[in-house]
Amino acid sequence: MYVYQNGVIKKKEDAALSIDDRGYTFGEGIYEVVRVYGGRVFTLADHWQRLKRSADEMEILLPDYFTRKHCMETISQLVEKNNQPESWVYLQVTRGVQFRSHGFLDNMTPMITMYLIPAGSWEKERQGVKVSLAEDIRWHRCDVKSTMLMANTLMKTRAAREGYFEVIFEREGFITEGSASNVFFVKEGELITPPLSNYILPGITRSYIMQLAGRLSLKCIERPVKVAELPTMDEIFVTATGIEAIPVSAVGQLDYRSPGPVYTQLMDEFNQDIEKLKWL
Ligand SMILES: Cc1ncc(COP(=O)(O)O)c(C=O)c1O
Repeated sequence: MYVYQNGVIKKKEDAALSIDDRGYTFGEGIYEVVRVYGGRVFTLADHWQRLKRSADEMEILLPDYFTRKHCMETISQLVEKNNQPESWVYLQVTRGVQFRSHGFLDNMTPMITMYLIPAGSWEKERQGVKVSLAEDIRWHRCDVKSTMLMANTLMKTRAAREGYFEVIFEREGFITEGSASNVFFVKEGELITPPLSNYILPGITRSYIMQLAGRLSLKCIERPVKVAELPTMDEIFVTATGIEAIPVSAVGQLDYRSPGPVYTQLMDEFNQDIEKLKWL
């Protein structure tokens, strides 16, 4: 397997990291997961913009050579060298190496790694998945795509142990997002999703779904959603790069129609876009 490390594509066994990397000691890193369909990179411009913002917000300096063009070329090379046209690209940037001390130095050289994961197929899940509800115990910068995900991984694992596909977070009576996804609701034919804030990640799939809704003349409203409103929703689905959109058949004890008609309409449009992308 070929991977990328700081400008160089190499065999995975030749990639090495320092135990003093702040990504290891403090979890100081940012990341992106980008989808490759049929060898074509999907929505890279959006992922790139979000990565740059995460870097700025966390004061991680992306080196000059690490441009969007370089990133695109690297992904294409990884796809070719690994012969893996249906992939998730995992791209991570940590602050870099420094003897352990809370305060970080100026002008640190980040550690950039990239590798491919074979894309999963969610055939069974597209019929509907059960999700749980839990208190959002994360920090106040959920808008940054940070590798510091202990609350997410802990809650997701606990939910999975109880047979749930995902856990949806609530903060002070309002739904924020899933542990690794954004959430959409359908009520009386209209799409609803919580508004962007420091409590949710600005999902690339979230914004793509909103664009598709516009194209299909479906009304999509960004507004706070109360937990108390859950019983009034007709459909619920979660979105992320890795899963695209997956319909929810139950939140705890509350059942929903899945896959619902609005979900199906959006996914049909999404799949048509992917087919077009593959033939570009
Ligand atoms: C917490 C969280 N929210 C939302 C998302 C969805 O983001 P995207 O659609 O950009 O993959 C993710 C993706 O992993 C996530 O981890």
